[in-house]
Amino acid sequence: MARISVLSALILAAFCSATVIDDVADLNKLKFDYIVVGAGTSGVVVANRLTENKDISVLLLEAGGSNADVLDIEVPWLCLIATPDTAQDWNFTTTAQPGLNGRAIAYPRGFGLGGSSAVNYMIYTRGARDDFDRFARVTGDNSWSWDNLVPYMKKTERFSPPADRHNTTGQFDPSVHGFNGINTVSLQGFPTGIDSRVFAVTDELAEFPFNLDMNSGNTIGIGSTQVTIKDGVRSSSATSYLAPEFINRPNLHVLLNAHVTRVLPATTGSFRTVELVHGSNVTRLTVTAGKEVVLSAGSIGTPTILQHSGIGNASFLTQLGISPLVDLPSVGQNLTDHVLLLDSWFVNSTDTIDEANRNATLFGEQLAQWEDTHTGPLVNVAGSQIGWLRLPANASIFERFEDPASGPTAAHFEILFENGKLGPPTPEGTSYISISNALVAPTSRGFVTINSTDPLAAPLIHPNLLGTEVDIFIMREALRASARFAAAPSLKDYIITFDSFDPAFTDAQLEEYIRANSGTVFHPVGTAAMSAKGAGFGVVDPDLAVKEVSGLRIVDLSVLPFIPAAHTQAAAYIIAERAADIIKAAQC
Ligand SMILES: Cc1cc2nc3c(=O)[nH]c(=O)nc-3n(C[C@H](O)[C@H](O)[C@H](O)COP(=O)(O)OP(=O)(O)OC[C@H]3O[C@@H](n4cnc5c(N)ncnc54)[C@H](O)[C@@H]3O)c2cc1C
Ligand SMILES: *[C@@H]1O[C@H](CO)[C@@H](O)[C@H](O)[C@H]1NC(C)=O
Ligand SMILES: *[C@@H]1O[C@H](CO)[C@@H](O)[C@H](O)[C@H]1NC(C)=O
Ligand SMILES: *[C@@H]1O[C@H](CO)[C@@H](O)[C@H](O)[C@H]1NC(C)=O
Ligand SMILES: *[C@@H]1O[C@H](CO)[C@@H](O)[C@H](O)[C@H]1NC(C)=O
Ligand SMILES: *[C@@H]1O[C@H](CO)[C@@H](O)[C@H](O)[C@H]1NC(C)=O
Ligand SMILES: *[C@@H]1O[C@H](CO)[C@@H](O)[C@H](O)[C@H]1NC(C)=O
Ligand SMILES: *[C@@H]1O[C@H](CO)[C@@H](O)[C@H](O)[C@H]1NC(C)=O
Ligand SMILES: *[C@@H]1O[C@H](CO)[C@@H](O)[C@H](O)[C@H]1NC(C)=O
Ligand SMILES: *[C@@H]1O[C@H](CO)[C@@H](O)[C@H](O)[C@H]1NC(C)=O
Repeated sequence: MARISVLSALILAAFCSATVIDDVADLNKLKFDYIVVGAGTSGVVVANRLTENKDISVLLLEAGGSNADVLDIEVPWLCLIATPDTAQDWNFTTTAQPGLNGRAIAYPRGFGLGGSSAVNYMIYTRGARDDFDRFARVTGDNSWSWDNLVPYMKKTERFSPPADRHNTTGQFDPSVHGFNGINTVSLQGFPTGIDSRVFAVTDELAEFPFNLDMNSGNTIGIGSTQVTIKDGVRSSSATSYLAPEFINRPNLHVLLNAHVTRVLPATTGSFRTVELVHGSNVTRLTVTAGKEVVLSAGSIGTPTILQHSGIGNASFLTQLGISPLVDLPSVGQNLTDHVLLLDSWFVNSTDTIDEANRNATLFGEQLAQWEDTHTGPLVNVAGSQIGWLRLPANASIFERFEDPASGPTAAHFEILFENGKLGPPTPEGTSYISISNALVAPTSRGFVTINSTDPLAAPLIHPNLLGTEVDIFIMREALRASARFAAAPSLKDYIITFDSFDPAFTDAQLEEYIRANSGTVFHPVGTAAMSAKGAGFGVVDPDLAVKEVSGLRIVDLSVLPFIPAAHTQAAAYIIAERAADIIKAAQC
């Protein structure tokens, strides 16, 4: 029988002893009530909550490895180099994106325990009240509304002091947070040279209001960024929901390097059998759940597994040579993502990240400080302040198109501030401020489809970034808003001139600049979307059960029918917490 590599067995033994399966032969000796596919952000939460009951046994399958002791995913600032094309990444690339002048771009997804929460940029934003109320509306199930999810928002969260223990009064609203949850959320733990200037602008220009807490339901305005960082170290679903007290539960079994290829009917219509390959051994193994299989392989992985299993658009699957078992044409469709554009301005300062970015000695000192005390500049992630902003109600685009935002508490675009330029080292003597933008109410929809019958081959990923006129309009106006911000009194003496784009650019020049330089914020959703029970489209019902089959549920961001106007990891934790209760309630 194949064994996991000696190395990963040793790493695992160090922190998760009893329950990690180190011989796949054991798979068929053990009995599992639930099999969770994907130990990413959502899957780990479900596995944790289901095994609170010691009579329930769960098998958690993860394609990647343990991710233990990888410095780049522990030091917050190093998230910038944790992907793409690293051992913690699936290394996907998009198809040529027409909205990006035909460019194909890297499309990172976390690989290993914690999934994308182990490699992401740690910004923690729940989304807007209107985003969740829209989920309730389109699914016809009010339990997805903001008010009904607040208990889960608090349940997942352990709001904690920042790394530098600074006084956080006036930087967040304690009344909206949870302090006894599992995953740590905190404010950034190192002050930057631009903090006071950014906040001063919120007093100077009415279009950029101050927002005490963007996780209160009303996101609009500029405030302090909240991050999944615990005492200066990344908090992922793996370090939190799989901490030793949890992963050592005898009823939780984890198999690493287990790439799930398909789900199969255990009995007709009941997809409780999982097929997988382990490590480099291409022999397909199967294991069957007593109660349910939960797919938590993420917005790329989940629709890929479904299609290989014959669950998807029947005519498409037939053309490809796969026998269709369940005709659900929405599988893989409606892929939705946010667009990011980094923009910088030259400033008159030496107190920026640009120095450490080009001076290895200085960076080495910062890393040594982090290693000694988990303090210093590297406890931050990019973006100490972020803002969520709307186009004016009379924006010309609304004469011809419906407002794509979910409602007045949700933004059309985001503005992100960083004390220096992100990316490769800049020339000696230059310093910057970044005032970057993201499109967070996109109307473009793309797809994820399998490209061959080989379940180990990469799928075709087409997020269709900037694929519509509305999207490019919002992005252009976002850049113009950034330029107005840069011209505010508190920044006038600080900013020397533009670096990335000239504020005087015409619409056509801005559009060309945006298409040539934009990328993703890494927030794909929607590829196995929830819809109302009985709707003629969608993949799962509001209880996250896959339509037309039994024994199979989906718990990850692929179920979101619309993208929240927010960084998406919080939604994954929130959905998974609620899903665990749905699954528990269905146990008889
Ligand atoms: C580089 C980057 C930066 C980001 N920055 C932020 C940020 O700052 N803030 C924020 O809120 N969000 C951020 N995100 C997005 C956020 O992390 C994701 O939206 C969220 O974590 C997705 O959770 P999920 O549970 O849906 O999927 P994932 O966390 O991706 O989990 C899927 C899991 O399934 C596993 N898997 C997939 N296929 C298979 C298979 N066939 N067999 C077995 N296992 C499989 C994967 O290895 C993975 O562990 C970022 C993402 C990336 C990649
Ligand atoms: C691959 O796995 C199969 C089934 O577990 C096993 O019989 C076979 O010996 C393995 N092959 C190798 C090279 O380990
Ligand atoms: C991604 O690329 C890195 C670097 O080449 C490699 O180490 C890693 O194994 C790749 N990931 C996968 C899932 O193949
Ligand atoms: C933090 O600051 C607030 C006002 O800014 C003050 O009232 C409070 O006492 C301070 N807390 C601590 C612990 O110093
Ligand atoms: C299903 O796939 C076929 C073939 O690719 C395509 O023509 C059709 O539009 C798809 N159906 C739906 C509902 O997307
Ligand atoms: C995509 O989403 C829209 C909006 O919810 C929905 O009307 C449409 O049917 C979806 N398309 C597919 C193929 O599921
Ligand atoms: C930078 O600021 C100093 C004073 O702090 C000033 O003397 C100098 O002229 C400024 N440089 C530029 C390019 O604005
Ligand atoms: C690089 O940083 C070190 C340590 O802070 C400092 O002594 C040195 O002068 C810096 N070098 C340059 C070129 O600024
Ligand atoms: C929108 O309204 C504002 C103020 O009410 C006005 O200054 C602006 O010109 C209007 N814009 C458009 C496009 O009509
Ligand atoms: C998709 O399949 C085609 C035909 O086999 C191949 O040429 C192409 O490289 C594949 N694309 C990806 C992204 O793997």
